[in-house]
Amino acid sequence: MHATPALTSRLPKVGTTIFTVMSALAQELGAVNLGQGFPDFDCDPALLDAVTGAMREGLNQYPPMTGVPQLRERVAAKIEALYGRRYDPATEITVTAGATQAILTAILACVHPGDEVVVLEPCYDSYAPNIELAGGTVVRVPLTPGSFRPDFARIAAAMTLRTRLIIINSPHNPSATVWTRAEMEQLSALLAPTNVLLISDEVYEHMVFDGVPHISASSVPGLVERAFVISSFGKTFHVTGWKVGTVAAPASLTAEFRKVHQFNVFTVNTPVQHGLARYMADPAPYLNLPAFYQRKRDLFRAGLNQTRLRPLDSQGSYFQLVDYSAVSDLPEAEFCQWLTREVGVAAIPLSVFYDSGFEQRLARLCFAKQDSTLNTALERLARL
Ligand SMILES: Cc1ncc(COP(=O)(O)O)c(C=O)c1O
Repeated sequence: MHATPALTSRLPKVGTTIFTVMSALAQELGAVNLGQGFPDFDCDPALLDAVTGAMREGLNQYPPMTGVPQLRERVAAKIEALYGRRYDPATEITVTAGATQAILTAILACVHPGDEVVVLEPCYDSYAPNIELAGGTVVRVPLTPGSFRPDFARIAAAMTLRTRLIIINSPHNPSATVWTRAEMEQLSALLAPTNVLLISDEVYEHMVFDGVPHISASSVPGLVERAFVISSFGKTFHVTGWKVGTVAAPASLTAEFRKVHQFNVFTVNTPVQHGLARYMADPAPYLNLPAFYQRKRDLFRAGLNQTRLRPLDSQGSYFQLVDYSAVSDLPEAEFCQWLTREVGVAAIPLSVFYDSGFEQRLARLCFAKQDSTLNTALERLARL
C-alpha cells in the first residue's frame, strides 16, 4: 500500500471560511444571500462586448508580465485625474489577478521571516494568512469598537523596530467606514520617522457616499512614497468573478513586487485586460458608481429602519452593519445561522473578522443586490 505522506500545514488555523459556509446554507435553505459580498446583477453589456471583441480579435495569448500597456495607462490616467498623483505605467502600475493576489504578492515582496505587520481589526480575511505564509508576525490593533475609527495611540503603541508593514483598508470591509484626510495625514505623520511600508487596500474606492471624497494613499504626501495602492476591477465594474486588479507603487517597490508577481501568476487574462482598457475610455461608469450604490444603500437603510435591527453608519463600500441586540442575545455566528434558517436572510457575523472572535451583536449585510432582492430581504427582516 502506498500512503499519502503526512503534510504539516503551513496554515494550521485556516478552515472553510464563513463566507462559503453561509452561502452554502443560504442556497440549501433558499435564503436571500446578503452574506457574501458580490452583486446579484450583471455588468454593463458594453463591457462584455469589449471583452468578447478582444477575444474574437485573437487577443488570447500571454500579455506582458506587468499587464497590457493600454490598461496600465488607463489606470495611471484615472489615478492622476482623481487623486492628483502621476504614476508611470511602465514602472509603477502592475495588473494582478484581483486584489487578493496583489495583497499576497505585496506581502511576499516585503515581509521577511520575523518581520511584524500591523493589521487593523476587524479586517479582510486574507491579510493574516498571507502574512503567516511570508513568515511574518501578525500584530492586531482593534479599530475603535462602535465607531470603527483608527486609534492612532494604539497603532503607535503596536509599532516596534521589527514593524515592516501596515495594512489599511478604506472604504472598509466590514464596517463601511471611510478614512478622512485628517486620519490619512495622521497615519502619514506616524509613519514619517519610520521605514514602515503601507498596503492601502482601496478596492471600494468608487463606493463612497454623501458627496465625501475617497482619500487614496496616492494623494497623501508621506504615504504615497511608501504605499502599494491596491484596487479591484471586480468591485468597480460588477465582475467579481473576473479577478483582475491593480497595484500602484513607487518604482523601487514595484520592481520588488514584480519579481514575486513574475513567478506567482506571471500574467493576467489578456482579453479581459484589453476589454477593460477599451471600456475605461469612458469614465462615467466609475464616476457614477457612488450614486448607483448610494441609492441602494438608502433604499436598504430606509427598510432596515422599519425593523428591529439598528443600522450603523454606512459611509462607503457595499456593506451595512446592523446591531441586532434588540432582537436576540445569541452570539453573532449563532444569530446569523438562526437568521438564515428561521428568517431566510443570510448575513455574516462581524466576529469572524477578528482573530479573537470579539462579540458586539453585529452582523454584516451586503446591499450590492437588485432592488427586488433587497425588498424581499427587508420584508423578511420586518418580521423579526
Ligand atoms: C477589503 C477587500 N480587499 C480585497 C478583496 C479582494 O478583491 P478581489 O476580488 O479583487 O481579489 C475584497 C473582496 O471581498 C475585499 O473586501
